[in-house]
Amino acid sequence: MTIKVLSVVGARPQFIKAAVVSRAFMESGAISEVMVHTGQHYDEGMSDIFFEELAIPVPAYNLAVGSGGHGAQTGRMLEKIEEVIKRERPDWMLVYGDTNSTLAGALAASKLHVPVAHVEAGLRSFNKKMPEEQNRIVADHLSDLLLTPTQTANRNLAREGIGGDRVILVGDVMYDASLFAGDNAGGDLIDRLGLVPDRFILSTVHRAENTDDPARLAAILGGLSSVADKLPVVLPLHPRTRNILAGNAELEALAAKLTLIDPVGYFDMAALEANAALIATDSGGVQKEAYFHGKPCVTLRDETEWVELVELGWNRLQPPKSAEAVAEAILSTVGKKGKSGERPYGDGDAGKRIADVLMRHARVS
Ligand code: UD1
Ligand code: UDP
Repeated sequence: MTIKVLSVVGARPQFIKAAVVSRAFMESGAISEVMVHTGQHYDEGMSDIFFEELAIPVPAYNLAVGSGGHGAQTGRMLEKIEEVIKRERPDWMLVYGDTNSTLAGALAASKLHVPVAHVEAGLRSFNKKMPEEQNRIVADHLSDLLLTPTQTANRNLAREGIGGDRVILVGDVMYDASLFAGDNAGGDLIDRLGLVPDRFILSTVHRAENTDDPARLAAILGGLSSVADKLPVVLPLHPRTRNILAGNAELEALAAKLTLIDPVGYFDMAALEANAALIATDSGGVQKEAYFHGKPCVTLRDETEWVELVELGWNRLQPPKSAEAVAEAILSTVGKKGKSGERPYGDGDAGKRIADVLMRHARVS
């Protein structure tokens, strides 16, 4: 018996997660996947590079929705995904994470009574102002299968009355991805940037709550700039952040001491992470990758979904209140390692588990 899974991806972290799961689907020999790329991310360095590097099959559909406000972007996705579902009549809709592409995939399928499986279900920041929190709450409540990465996620769902057979702890696909990349996949980027291993800070900043608040963005850039007086700071710039800096001379001046580079591919990013002294980020995925590479992380947010890392001492939360607070947090955390020997994200077989669960729970029409 073969089952048909329609998977929806659209943003950078979803390509990385889908690479793991698609590989497991192919290895299962019993799942035929139809991948839909919504087109939420479209720059070469935000999209194509991941498909090439990670050998993800070319999506059967690219909806090319592009950028826009939440309503317009999600609305365009909904309309187009609905058409694809009607044409393909899948056994499962598979969505990843918490982006607008996740919301659109889950909602379109649910309205057409196609069962929804959500990878990375159950995460909560408990900050309902975040678009990601809104997206994940709706996706979770519409899902028939909640594929969770951590015990914390299971507990969060239980608190919202979601439990039983629908919730399956599979582990974190980002851990599978990280094992696949290894530590040394990044070629010569470290040399090209003139960096010395363990003598630089890697940073990423893209979350709306930081980029769209001038005071918070100034605190982050000002803090990183002070750090750069002591250790080089490399910042692969997300296009959202790039666009905001481009229109603001004050912020550009604050960023002048930083090594700003274009977004890099997954393997180059793994090499930067593996060689950094510390990672300062507001990314969800990068917080965990810091841990996978044994690096301390300062999370430039008010809260995190990945609370295990704070509890284990690998992650320090630092709300970007002021440049001084950001710089102090980073400089005083360099060299501070957390507890070792724990495996909060599973065994690196989340992709295979997802394939197995989808086959086991399919209601083939
Ligand atoms: C989205 C997700 C966020 C995720 C992030 C991963 C939502 C609401 N947010 O945020 O959860 O952490 O992706 O990176 O879904 N842009 C380009 N080129 C691109 C893509 C974006 O120039 O290829 C620019 C556009 O100006 C766009 C802006 O970046 O308006 C923001 O893009 P968007 O996809 O809306 O949100 P992200 O900030 O990327
Ligand atoms: N990433 C990358 N190149 C970059 C920045 C990030 O390959 O220049 C990868 C990173 O290694 C991680 C993922 O993108 O696997 C995280 O995506 P992002 O930070 O955009 O989104 P989030 O995880 O916060 O939703």
